[in-house]
Amino acid sequence: MIKDSDIKALIQSAIAVKEKSYSPYSHFQVGAALMTNSGKVYTGTNIENASYPVGICAERSAFAAAISNGERDFSALAIVGSSENKELRFCTPCGMCRQTAAEFCSSDFPIILAKSEEEYEIHTIGELLPVTFRL
Ligand code: THU
Repeated sequence: MIKDSDIKALIQSAIAVKEKSYSPYSHFQVGAALMTNSGKVYTGTNIENASYPVGICAERSAFAAAISNGERDFSALAIVGSSENKELRFCTPCGMCRQTAAEFCSSDFPIILAKSEEEYEIHTIGELLPVTFRL
């Protein structure tokens, strides 16, 4: 069970990294914060490209940062998103990001979708991506 203080810390980190979003095409900014079982937090934001499919989502940026630092065990992921200068809204992860999370996390892994530190909902990856493809 994830602690309230960890939920708040993850949401804060996701909100902070969202400000770094490079999203000149969609103007939709996303921030993701991924916590390891040892309590470290890795963040990622969406990075778009003039060649649209080259862009990467915030969640996969966060997983890339963590995995590149040798991490494999994760306790939770928080996601925030909004159009530029707009309020945060619940930003559900896209299919590719769900598949990425499922690669590294068990089905009870919590994904926190947040509008603020107080307003959030938690879904498990098993709920968001049931009957996951695996080799
Ligand atoms: N985006 C994410 O970063 N994560 C998601 O799960 C959904 C979409 C980004 C990709 C693109 O830069 C922008 O949001 C609009 O689709």
